[in-house]
Amino acid sequence: MSSDSSTFIETESLETKRPCAQESESKCFFEVKDLKKAIGGQKILRGVDLNIRRGETMVVIGRSGEGKSVFLKHLIGLMSPDAGSIKVEGQELVGLRERQMRDIRRKVGILFQDGALFDSMTVAENVAFPLMEMGIKNREELLERVGQALDKVELAEHMAKMPINISGGMRKRVSLARAIIGEPQCILYDEPTSGLDPVVSESIDRLILRMQKNLCVTSLVVTHDMNSVFRIADRVAYLREGKIHFLGTPEELRDSQDRYVRSFVEGRQVEEE
Ligand SMILES: Nc1ncnc2c1ncn2[C@@H]1O[C@H](COP(=O)(O)OP(=O)(O)O)[C@@H](O)[C@H]1O
Ligand SMILES: [Mg+2]
Repeated sequence: MSSDSSTFIETESLETKRPCAQESESKCFFEVKDLKKAIGGQKILRGVDLNIRRGETMVVIGRSGEGKSVFLKHLIGLMSPDAGSIKVEGQELVGLRERQMRDIRRKVGILFQDGALFDSMTVAENVAFPLMEMGIKNREELLERVGQALDKVELAEHMAKMPINISGGMRKRVSLARAIIGEPQCILYDEPTSGLDPVVSESIDRLILRMQKNLCVTSLVVTHDMNSVFRIADRVAYLREGKIHFLGTPEELRDSQDRYVRSFVEGRQVEEE
């Protein structure tokens, strides 16, 4: 098990340069065009256009129930759209067969909003799952990599426990370890810091940044936490009424005069005219 400098909490500056995002600015990992989805007659996504550049950290914000999780599920084919296109590294995802979808899912790790751990498996077995799916069976390799991933979220000593016997915050960190263990090219994080205390939240943000910087990972983070937005985002997309209402840098978000953006950033209701 590694106890090198890549431990969960470390002193590295959050302002560290991120060469990956700058070098390949024009290349997109995801290209989403006019994505539409209704569920049970309710129009959730009403034409989402969003390009996510390779190596960048895109943060998606929006009120609860706006469709952020639904959007994320489309990106790995867990939901299929009514209309529109989703390209992953240039390859159209809409209409792909399950087997081809599996190849795409190997490139993309996901931290589900509710953690989605398997209750009947230990922490270690949960974290090992993506590697087993890839066909890695060597016990020593599995154990070493599980240990390293759990080290990154400071949970190595809990690997034998069952998910029911650890706290909600710990479960979230186990899901995070599971999302990163296969060293995917892209990681989708659905509310990675919700329900966690500020210190742990900041540590998760550092881990997200470090994954991006060290492994050139493309990241898409859904969050409610404005502190996180300003710590980690290269760009921010604000989902409102089924569309991307605002897209820009964190500075542009802070300076935006749009009334809906302002009210979201400041955490208050929009005053109706
Ligand atoms: N599997 C589902 N069945 C029915 N309704 C769903 C399902 N998933 C999401 N929804 C609805 O779609 C809307 C968007 O949900 P969601 O994407 O989870 O919002 P959020 O932005 O909070 O992540 C909500 O109204 C939710 O109730
Ligand atoms: Mg959600």
